[in-house]
Amino acid sequence: VKKIGVLTSGGDAPGMNAAIRAVVRTGLSYDLEVFGIYDGYFGLHQNKIKKMERYSVSDIINRGGTFLGSARFPEFKDEKIREEAVANLKKHDIDALVVIGGDGSYMGAKKLTEMGFPCIGIPGTIDNDIAGTDYTIGFDTALNTAIDAIDRIRDTSSSHNRISVVEIMGRYCGDLALQAAIAGGAEYLIIPEVGFSRTDLLKSLNEGKLKGKKHAIIAITEHITNVNELAAGIEMATGRETRATVLGHIQRGGSPTARDRVLASWMGGYAVELLLDGKGGRCIGIQNNQLVHHDIIECIENMRRPFSQDLYTLQQKLF
Ligand code: F6P
Repeated sequence: VKKIGVLTSGGDAPGMNAAIRAVVRTGLSYDLEVFGIYDGYFGLHQNKIKKMERYSVSDIINRGGTFLGSARFPEFKDEKIREEAVANLKKHDIDALVVIGGDGSYMGAKKLTEMGFPCIGIPGTIDNDIAGTDYTIGFDTALNTAIDAIDRIRDTSSSHNRISVVEIMGRYCGDLALQAAIAGGAEYLIIPEVGFSRTDLLKSLNEGKLKGKKHAIIAITEHITNVNELAAGIEMATGRETRATVLGHIQRGGSPTARDRVLASWMGGYAVELLLDGKGGRCIGIQNNQLVHHDIIECIENMRRPFSQDLYTLQQKLF
């Protein structure tokens, strides 16, 4: 391997810049040429490829988002589009590619690997929904942002004796809401892995009131239900003022936490080491505080993230 490319794809995540920086600088430390690909797979198809120097990644470790840009590009499922993308990589004599992103990005990396182009996947998404890793880059920052928001909502919710429904991102993974509920002291939690019944929720809210709770915070993962309708339904059934807040893309931005910067740097450096070791078609994870790598095809096709049942059970005891 002499020349490698790096791109970020799918939803951005705080810490992606730190990962790119680590790929570039680790690559340069081994005298590799490193190319940045702008705007994800879309940019790869458009040949938006630029050689990176040490200074190209200066002053980005603390910045949220991704300076390379990112895109969702479903057209990459088309084999002809992928062949054109690989032709662009070959124009620059790039031998291997590091892809930083979520499961859609891994799918692209898997397809390229199957076409004989070695890729390494680095898990970059706030959702923490990737198999083969305990944590994804961006999760910790988004979690801290969500907790900060819940703390603020708690202030006003308690001043007004209200019920507050807080919608948290995560796509179809409840980790962000679960950990935000524990760290933010939310009274009720609704996540996709468990689901919910409105009757049980109303019953719990009632029990909470009998225990003396004057206000309540309900943390809920997105895509489960319309939170404004849920809030209106709760208000109607309980007679208590209820408000909904969708945290939305605020959770995607901001300066990455130290934990995300270290994780991203660690994984970025490791991706280059794996390529130098002749390993392609792998995805990186952190498990039990150790860096690991798995077959990217196996990861997408057969591996599933375990649900943190212990944390869920704990949360149910804490409200
Ligand atoms: O995958 C990250 C994520 O922020 C999810 O939590 C959310 O469902 C989705 O992306 C939002 O996508 P977009 O930014 O394209 O609206």
